[in-house]
Amino acid sequence: MATIAAPTTYQTKILIGDQWRDAVSGKTFPTVNPATEEVIADVAEGDAADIDLAVKAAREAFTSGPWAKMDARDRGALLMKLADLIEANLEELAALESLDNGKPIRDSRAADLPLVVDCLRYYAGWADKIHGQTIPIRGNYFCYTRREPVGVCGQIIPWNFPMLMAAWKWGPALATGNTIVMKPAEQTPLTCLRMAELALEAGIPPGVINVVPGYGPTAGAALVAHPDVDKIAFTGEHHTGKIIMRNAAETLKRLTFELGGKSPNIVFADADLDAAVAGAEFGLFFNQGQCCCAGSRLFVEDSVHDEFVERVVERAKSRVVGNPLDSNTTQGPQVDQAQLDKILGFIEKGKAQGARCLTGGTRAGDQGYFVEPTVFDSVTDEMDIALHEIFGPVMNILRFRDLDEVIERSNRTIFGLAAAVWTSDVTKAHRIAGAVRAGTVWINCYDVFDAAAPFGGFKFSGMGRELGEAGLQAYTEPKTVTMNLG
Ligand code: NAI
Ligand code: MG
Repeated sequence: MATIAAPTTYQTKILIGDQWRDAVSGKTFPTVNPATEEVIADVAEGDAADIDLAVKAAREAFTSGPWAKMDARDRGALLMKLADLIEANLEELAALESLDNGKPIRDSRAADLPLVVDCLRYYAGWADKIHGQTIPIRGNYFCYTRREPVGVCGQIIPWNFPMLMAAWKWGPALATGNTIVMKPAEQTPLTCLRMAELALEAGIPPGVINVVPGYGPTAGAALVAHPDVDKIAFTGEHHTGKIIMRNAAETLKRLTFELGGKSPNIVFADADLDAAVAGAEFGLFFNQGQCCCAGSRLFVEDSVHDEFVERVVERAKSRVVGNPLDSNTTQGPQVDQAQLDKILGFIEKGKAQGARCLTGGTRAGDQGYFVEPTVFDSVTDEMDIALHEIFGPVMNILRFRDLDEVIERSNRTIFGLAAAVWTSDVTKAHRIAGAVRAGTVWINCYDVFDAAAPFGGFKFSGMGRELGEAGLQAYTEPKTVTMNLG
């Protein structure tokens, strides 16, 4: 059968220590199946009171629980165990992710879940490799550094890759001995809660991971303002990042941000066009266009423009839009009504401002938040669809003539998350890689992610890096110890 059954049991409560609790207020909020618009489950709606309890549990676990005394290697083993349990439950988790988020089951299975498992294993391996240095300072002293955990880490994640964003944040935090209060996105709380169940089953001590579902301005804001939270790691919209930065100022929190993007994907005439067309499709339409690093400004060199456009439109038309739980589906619904409305609004602006809509341009069907794969040609730099993050299946094609021009136009954005270039000329490729102000550059590929390779943004796209060795920095405080040798 191509279509799998939706999971029928869900964890819907708040996790504090090892207790699954209702919200102190007793409130719940619905999480919705974006393919049908039906409520999947009502989830406990945490707010400031629940955040306070979760922070207390996390602080207790940090200062006096078994976690605080545990050998680093044993911490790594627990993280490895969690990865194993997630892998053992891969089918169930993939189905739950597709149900709650709407992403095609083939992507949950082949992309999200394997990346989650890989990320946790990668950081499990780091746990006993967090070294300080011995430093030959002037005088008769013995000087060394230690890298200590930051403490209680508040982690706020979005809905586009619910499990993967949790793994990116849990992995480095746990490997370095921190404790966590996580607030998953209100649209997609279910897989994070299931992951937390598996973390307890793996033997990660109670209080090390606490999960409080709820809304941003209530639960999220309470976490940001809490005086006993040492650090906030946030992924989401840059406007939200600004609010969090302001609200975190009072308690001088450490902050890391992974925010939005408007990433240039640059196709030169000398590229392997088959690969470039496939890469342009994947780089934009993957995950319904709901990727912070989506290649949403597609620059195509003049001399291949017409052929390229024709071929990429064919590919867009061949996408299979439908039930995310059907393994033939390549495009599911957008995550919620607000995202659907936002995307349709951008499409209308694109049409009104003179871009040519070559395919799509409307909602697909009348149930579920589906959008037709849409391609705009004749897009210019100042149109709204070229300036703002659409976060939907809307491809914007811009023409260019030469290297210097495309470099300058690529950088004409507040964002700097990713960029890609398609060319057979290594000189051009590395000129672009050096000149584009972005945290990641892909050459003749797109969306190649690996737990070992740092990811994050220049400019409005973020602060700090996740993944790789770089991702550990934000979760440790260096301490310098100097001893008088007499
Ligand atoms: P958002 O930034 O509002 O939400 C992300 C997370 O932040 C959620 O968990 C939310 O509850 C929380 N949050 C919201 N307001 C908060 C506050 N005042 N204090 C603390 N936490 C808060 O993003 P949203 O509204 O879901 O999506 C809006 C747009 O943001 C999208 O259309 C897209 O353009 C962009 N976005 C970018 C993402 C990325 O990966 N860079 C991910 C999600 C959205
Ligand atoms: Mg929001």
